[in-house]
Amino acid sequence: MTVCFFPQRKNMSIPTVQLSTGAVIPLLGLGTWKSAPGQVQQAVEVAIDNGYRHIDCAHAYRNEKEVGAGISSRIQKGVVKREDLFIVSKLWNNYHDQENVKPAFMESLTNLHLTYLDVYLMHSPMGTKLNKQSGEVEFSDVDYTDTWKEMEKLVDEGLVKAIGVSNFNVGQLERLQSMCRINPAVNQVELHPYLTQPKLVQYCKTNGIVLTAYSPFGSPDSPFVQCDKQRLLEDPVISAIGKKYGKTNAHVLLLYHVQRGVTVIPKSVTPVRIIQNAQIFDFSLSDDDIKTLEGLNRNWRSAKWDVSGLPSHKFYPFKED
Ligand SMILES: NC(=O)c1ccc[n+]([C@@H]2O[C@H](COP(=O)([O-])OP(=O)(O)OC[C@H]3O[C@@H](n4cnc5c(N)ncnc54)[C@H](OP(=O)(O)O)[C@@H]3O)[C@@H](O)[C@H]2O)c1
Repeated sequence: MTVCFFPQRKNMSIPTVQLSTGAVIPLLGLGTWKSAPGQVQQAVEVAIDNGYRHIDCAHAYRNEKEVGAGISSRIQKGVVKREDLFIVSKLWNNYHDQENVKPAFMESLTNLHLTYLDVYLMHSPMGTKLNKQSGEVEFSDVDYTDTWKEMEKLVDEGLVKAIGVSNFNVGQLERLQSMCRINPAVNQVELHPYLTQPKLVQYCKTNGIVLTAYSPFGSPDSPFVQCDKQRLLEDPVISAIGKKYGKTNAHVLLLYHVQRGVTVIPKSVTPVRIIQNAQIFDFSLSDDDIKTLEGLNRNWRSAKWDVSGLPSHKFYPFKED
């Protein structure tokens, strides 16, 4: 795995890691889940103005039009060229059926005002469908390997540079890799010191799959974690590490990934935080710091996907824990 660090400067280049396709992905990106449509355009603009080049999007976030407006405005202003950006979106669970994959992809592409994506991810291995009469989410029988075959066609057609998955466990990656024509370039999963997933991290490393860490702060604004909020941003052990370097918990939590070649996509709609979250390339965590952070693991997930009966889906990915 090649990780390239550049010296810090204003509007600095954010370091990158190479995908199995040969393309490079910036190690820090902007997350956009829960970013209100009225706020996300500005968030994307602030991010791009301050050196971010990687934006994480999804059909399911219901804000791709506004994300696209932010991207377009910065291209039109000449702040950035399309080829310097790295735009990721995701195929939602309801569109796993063969005939739905390309239309769902095209809808994201149109909403984002783009002609290609850098990576398209399968949002999860669990296919579902919406019962239009009852409004209920039902399980679909479609196998994620069949969905993957449709995603491979998007690469063949030049609509996307690379394809990947999200929320896949080791068994599911092994099964997909044993059948696919194009290897998944990325697996986007929840990762932070309370959920270190060493087996999954090792599998991805040895199989040429770049990991993207989602919810690096434990998703404090998630609607799904009301009862068991865990406070990574206030954890005193993490604060003690940050204090040594004059850095915040957020900085430590982000560098923890970047330093080992894991891409990370903190969400913020607050301009000052978006800027601060990129100020992580002027310090290093020691081996002891990393060991201490890993020692905080408690297999705690903010995103358990325990809605609509999904834990009984045959492809529910979190049974391995
Ligand atoms: N593939 C998947 O299934 C999946 C699942 C979850 C997330 N994701 C992706 O990963 C991204 C990040 O995860 P997430 O949104 O769950 O949560 P997160 O990045 O762990 O946390 C976001 C929260 O932290 C706050 N925040 C950001 N920077 C901060 C700072 N420096 N200090 C204090 N608070 C700060 C944000 O507030 P403000 O916005 O108010 O500033 C927001 O409330 C998502 O947006 C999405 O793109 C993917």
